[in-house]
Amino acid sequence: GAYELRVCCMGAGYVGGPTMAVIAKFCPRIRVVVVDISAKQIARWNRGDLPIYEPKLEELVAAQRNKNLFFSTEIDRNIKEADLIFVCVNTPTKATGFGAGAAADTKHVEACARMIAESATSDKIVVEKSTVPVHTAEVLNTVFEANSSTSVHFEVLSNPEFLSEGTAVSDLMDPSRILIGGNSTPSGQKAVETLVSIYEHWVARDKIITTNVWSSELSKLVANAFLAQRISSMNSISALCEATGADVSEVARAVGTDPRIGDKFLQVSVGFGGSCFQKDILNLVYLAESCHLPQVAAYWRSVVDMNEYQKNRFSKLIVSKLFHSVTNKKIAILGFAYKKDTGDTRETAAAAIIKALVAERANIHIYDPKVEKEDMIDELQYQGLAQCDIETIHVASSPYEATNKAHAIAILTEWTEFTALPYDRIYQDMLKPAFENNINTTPFSFFLTHPTPLSVLIFFFHRHYEIMFDFLKRPTLEDELFKMKFTAKSLL
Ligand code: NAI
Repeated sequence: GAYELRVCCMGAGYVGGPTMAVIAKFCPRIRVVVVDISAKQIARWNRGDLPIYEPKLEELVAAQRNKNLFFSTEIDRNIKEADLIFVCVNTPTKATGFGAGAAADTKHVEACARMIAESATSDKIVVEKSTVPVHTAEVLNTVFEANSSTSVHFEVLSNPEFLSEGTAVSDLMDPSRILIGGNSTPSGQKAVETLVSIYEHWVARDKIITTNVWSSELSKLVANAFLAQRISSMNSISALCEATGADVSEVARAVGTDPRIGDKFLQVSVGFGGSCFQKDILNLVYLAESCHLPQVAAYWRSVVDMNEYQKNRFSKLIVSKLFHSVTNKKIAILGFAYKKDTGDTRETAAAAIIKALVAERANIHIYDPKVEKEDMIDELQYQGLAQCDIETIHVASSPYEATNKAHAIAILTEWTEFTALPYDRIYQDMLKPAFENNINTTPFSFFLTHPTPLSVLIFFFHRHYEIMFDFLKRPTLEDELFKMKFTAKSLL
């Protein structure tokens, strides 16, 4: 037909949907069909009521849908018709069995390979876009060899995705690099060139890195491990700052101006969340253990351990600042998504904090601008909250409802809208039996960097200290800080 290439993508999730929409936008002569086993998911993509939230995604999909971008549940037919198939299915940490809690579960990737082998009647390039353990390409090849007719040739490539949720569309449109791993055989190199030619529609050739398959698979795990390691490193320093009176934001700035270190990803936080960091590090740890490299495994495991420590430390801080008891106290949680500009809640630190506070019998009220209640409940269940405890949690429809008569507010997602709230008004509506509360600098609380006569505590999770900085410059807030300092002084 009129199409120069037919592409099928298996998995219409956070990666498959945005990635294929961007390919469709830049390659009008490529037909892209995204398939999924979930009919509900596909129906939402087709209705325009997208199953995921990403800035600029809705317009992008609307502009291409039914032109050269299609969403379908007909997996068989679309495998048959495709020249190139992206595998973009989920690869979560295994919950049970061998390697439970560490190894990645590749059952969906294998299921895709079996479907492809079964349906294919012509040669296919099969591209692993899911993040997978090193040597998964070998599994795919073995499945293909054992299950298909000898006349059909399958060429497996690795092409991991580096997009970040919340900025997926701009990351895809202007990627830092594209990584493609392929075999050194002539058919391997030909397949690599086909995939390169897709990306070349909008990415400069020198940004497209080609490697062997194992390097490509491993690089994705290493990239995420390094990113998470920076967060854990800074979080470990935050504990030291609290103990010494150093200010962690100042330390981050002072350290990050060294170009060898860089200033990105140095903001302190209550701990990383998201579906990838922990899963991919554990995947790396499992790989190191399988290769009999226990020191390497222990080194990377400590990044996850530090993250657990930080979440735990933050929950304890809240309880101790509220006189070691939060029983029946209303605590507002602003933000449930694992970071701003996404509705994704997978592995969010907010759920861990809520779990700890519910165990202390706190009265939790959550507000998040994008997360649906059922997704909150699912994630709380997944992170181990009992049904009877989940029932005690309230979901508020506005930040005011969540914070009214609260004892403390924990801001756990750095949503931009939270920086523009009228905190003076919110503060007035909180509970405040006055008491002397002498608190040292903590990375989470800028109200608390001054001794205040308040029982009201506001904790901030500021992944982006720049935001907090703006925040401090707002006149109402400055007034408020001034008033607080003033009250503190007058009480002394
Ligand atoms: P997701 O869970 O949002 O989407 C996966 C989709 O695959 C689901 O809709 C599921 O129904 C579908 N699926 C499962 N088995 C299938 C099958 N046999 N045939 C067709 N569809 C099937 O997952 P997400 O977040 O898109 O992640 C996909 C992969 O990309 C994972 O390996 C992840 O580690 C990796 N990744 C994720 C990033 C992210 O920010 N979410 C970033 C970079 C990589």
